[in-house]
Amino acid sequence: TRTIKLAVIPGDGIGPEVIEQANLVLDAVLAGGDVALERTEFALGAERFLATGDTLPEDEQQQIAEHDAILFGAVGGVPGDPRLKHANIERGLLLKLRFDFEHYANVRPCTLFPGVESALRDPGAVDFLMVREGTEGPYAGNGGTLRPGTPNEVATEVSVNSAFGVERVVRYAFEAAQARPRKKLTWVHKTNVLVFAGSMWQRIVQTVAAEYPEIAVDYMHVDAATIHMVQDPARFDVIVTDNLFGDILTDVAGAIGGGIGLAASGNINPDGTFPSMFEPVHGSAPDIAGQQKADPTAAILSAALLLDHLGLGAEGDRVRDAVRADLATRGSAPRPTATVGAAVIAAIPAR
Ligand code: NAD
Ligand code: IPM
Ligand code: MN
Repeated sequence: TRTIKLAVIPGDGIGPEVIEQANLVLDAVLAGGDVALERTEFALGAERFLATGDTLPEDEQQQIAEHDAILFGAVGGVPGDPRLKHANIERGLLLKLRFDFEHYANVRPCTLFPGVESALRDPGAVDFLMVREGTEGPYAGNGGTLRPGTPNEVATEVSVNSAFGVERVVRYAFEAAQARPRKKLTWVHKTNVLVFAGSMWQRIVQTVAAEYPEIAVDYMHVDAATIHMVQDPARFDVIVTDNLFGDILTDVAGAIGGGIGLAASGNINPDGTFPSMFEPVHGSAPDIAGQQKADPTAAILSAALLLDHLGLGAEGDRVRDAVRADLATRGSAPRPTATVGAAVIAAIPAR
């Protein structure tokens, strides 16, 4: 029996509700096999911060680092809560984990499953993979403010792009494209305005592309990419882009793929130096928290990505098959979170 050490961070709001279902699905898909999960739960997030003042204590981060993978729900309090300092939890917990554990490939698949209604009228066969840089860009925290709070305030938020950081995510994206049948890679930036980072991204994409002659590479400015994504999302195969562009485009992709309740993600450390972290794209959704209204499918599909990452792709496929079966028949009436989880479990195919 192989034992996998899984760190679980349910977080705030709907996080614990959707993670409960993802955990039940993991147990069901692994039942009767030779893989055992050993879970440790970490109570982190806005709720913990408000109760104790802790964001991510060093010793807990150390403990998390000793696991094989992380399953993360969502964190964040009610927007505008004056007790939460601006971006305290998002930066001090979620981004700190992504940065310190070098989750440089933030992978967010967008697949429109049969029976699912896209936000688009006629989306076509949508099946693309967004590879979002996860550790730098405008998220790096390189900024500051002069004369804060005055009419003469000047605030900066500098986008940090290292050749090392860009090359490793670009390589990851080429490898991902190589493993897919269509062998297409679109890189997205804003080279017509962001000339320094843009020309470095361009040089690196060109250099790496030379090693992958089978891959058809094209480029789009990020503004045009939103047009193409909305008008003809089926044209995309793999997309690679920087941290902020990727954040925005993956919410668009979420709507195209049938809604944010279905959008899964993996924060991957491909080198295996640190545990990778799997989480739904959505946040803590305070507007529906505690009411069993959240769709756990995004969390369940994130758990499937976790299985893939651990070399359990056949089990990941069984979870996706079960989700596909549930989505094909679920209809449009809202269902409680636990009902969706149970329906997915009931649809898991035999080994
Ligand atoms: P959100 O994703 O939490 O919610 C946006 C909208 O989508 C809401 O109307 C919500 O009800 C709906 N929604 C989200 N997930 C859903 C699901 N599974 N099923 C059905 N509906 C769902 O984004 P927000 O409102 O901008 O942010 C709320 C908090 O979450 C903020 O504090 C934000 O910083 C945080 N956040 C955290 C993460 C994360 O932990 N990874 C991601 C995004 C936002
Ligand atoms: C996401 C979220 C996060 C991000 C926030 C909560 C820090 O929006 O995972 O997409 O911007 O990366
Ligand atoms: Mn986002």
